[in-house]
Amino acid sequence: MKQRTPVVVNILIIIGLLIVFYYLFVQSYAFFSSPYFWGTVVIASILAYIHSAIGDLIENNKFKKLSEEEKASYLAEKKIPFLRRQYNAAFKKQSATEEKDILIDHGFDGIMELDNQLPKWWLGLFWFGTVFCIVYVAAFSFTDFAHPISEYDQEYKEQIASIAEFEKTQPPVTIETAEFLADNIAAGEEVFKTNCVSCHSEGGKGGIGPNLTDNFWNNQPEKKLFKNIFHVVDNGVTGTAMQAWGKNGVLTGRDIQNVAAYVYHINQEQPPITPAQGGAPAYGTEAHWEKE
Ligand code: HEC
Repeated sequence: MKQRTPVVVNILIIIGLLIVFYYLFVQSYAFFSSPYFWGTVVIASILAYIHSAIGDLIENNKFKKLSEEEKASYLAEKKIPFLRRQYNAAFKKQSATEEKDILIDHGFDGIMELDNQLPKWWLGLFWFGTVFCIVYVAAFSFTDFAHPISEYDQEYKEQIASIAEFEKTQPPVTIETAEFLADNIAAGEEVFKTNCVSCHSEGGKGGIGPNLTDNFWNNQPEKKLFKNIFHVVDNGVTGTAMQAWGKNGVLTGRDIQNVAAYVYHINQEQPPITPAQGGAPAYGTEAHWEKE
């Protein structure tokens, strides 16, 4: 008679599978705080206990029918801990009598085949996979549930809405409130690449527009560099190709705050790109900015 898997092991396997299942559908571990998850864990555990209790009854009945010798060997094996038993089983060979029972003799080609039973874990995974596949394909084909494209649309809408909400609640950034924040440099670089690179070239080394990495500035309406950049980008330079990005409504105050942080960064925190390195020659007068 075969030894049975302890109910605790079954429950652990079920919980493991449930976690995988929930994670696949929820795409985060947020389900750990959901009553549905713990509900299914409790129900699955109760079912596993019932299954194990029925197993106990059957086992008792079968046990009574065993010979004394078989009873003794069964009890001896039962004492071996579960994991130890699994380990031993991995190296155990079938005895000749066991093999005889499951032998399929082809006869015509002389090949001998053993009709081994599929392991329980294999069958379990197989049925789990089959059910999962049916549920998933049906959900994917007929509903929005777990559908990546509709999830993407949904998240996109939510993000646009939350940005709009943020802009509404946040006071707009003006030259008075704007400040240099190192955290804005990366976002500013994106604004620069989209809007400014065509004239000021990569890294602000200058082209149609002047070199933004050196200390020569044609426009110095403000005493401090960061405010100065904000001012020029906001108001532009009349009569030149440098338009008023803020006043024309192309960039928001927040965008200008970001791009100004980037220009400040390449001007103050990076070495200048000199004409020898492909930078545009000095334009305007040397600046003496007040400390920020
Ligand atoms: C169509 C070309 C063009 C684009 C695009 C452009 N600029 Fe300019 N920019 C200029 C020109 C030309 C000047 C020089 C104006 C002058 O003669 O004083 C200038 C001047 C500047 C100055 C002042 C430099 C100085 O020496 O006074 C800053 C700062 C500046 N631009 C930043 C930007 C930023 C940031 C962007 C992107 C949001 C941008 N520019 C987009 C052409 C451009």
